[in-house]
Amino acid sequence: MKKLVILTGAGISAESGIKTFRDAGGLWEEHRVEDVASPMGWALNRRLVLKFYNDRRRQLAGCEPNAGHIGLAALEKYFDVHIITQNIDNLHERAGSTKVIHLHGELTKARSTKDPELIYDIGYNDIREGDKCDLGSQLRPHIVWFGEAVPMIEEAVKVTGQADIFAVIGTSLNVYPAAGLIEYVPEGASLWLIDPNDVYVPGDRRVEVIKEAAGKGVEILAGRLMDLK
Ligand code: APR
Repeated sequence: MKKLVILTGAGISAESGIKTFRDAGGLWEEHRVEDVASPMGWALNRRLVLKFYNDRRRQLAGCEPNAGHIGLAALEKYFDVHIITQNIDNLHERAGSTKVIHLHGELTKARSTKDPELIYDIGYNDIREGDKCDLGSQLRPHIVWFGEAVPMIEEAVKVTGQADIFAVIGTSLNVYPAAGLIEYVPEGASLWLIDPNDVYVPGDRRVEVIKEAAGKGVEILAGRLMDLK
């Protein structure tokens, strides 16, 4: 089976009702990144940070995977599909994707502030001040904040380097190291982009652009890839 590697961002969850970050009305219009998604923000006002992620976790409980997530999961019948997502939602997994790398963490998990290896599944429950890990330290969202290391990037680079086909769906490619994965796509692989807006793809490779929302775009991609399987 050919290896299909897909880098997704907030745009693939937009049709599930989850806000993106940099579109009009996006999350970064309502909140300052440094206040709610940085170690400094956590140090200055952990209650605000906990509320930011508790609100998003509660919203996620009421969201469903959309045709984009479902279409990608269905491609596992024909390709060895690896999803590398910047998203912290669980919609790829709930749609049936079996190989998902979360570069920026997972909303449904909490972790110790004493030992980052100590991670707990919390589903859609809140994390409250005073919720402690087994070592007695405050629990925090299992999210990669700005300025923090991206532990899964090594695995993502390895998977990207093995791609026969690489698709970028629903990301503005603004944030590194995720956006830098493009540089690791093998020369012989085909490169695809699904986004209703124009997105600058770094480098000078040929990009097959499908200028559609994810639901429709994945359907078109699947049709085009059937000739390549
Ligand atoms: N279908 C597909 N793409 C869409 C849709 C849709 N229905 N709606 C919007 N988009 C596209 C936008 O055109 C944009 O290119 O999704 C992209 C969203 O870009 P951002 O809001 O910048 O989100 P993302 O690229 O995922 O951000 C990366 O930045 O703030 C950090 O950690 C956060 O993981 C996030 C990272």
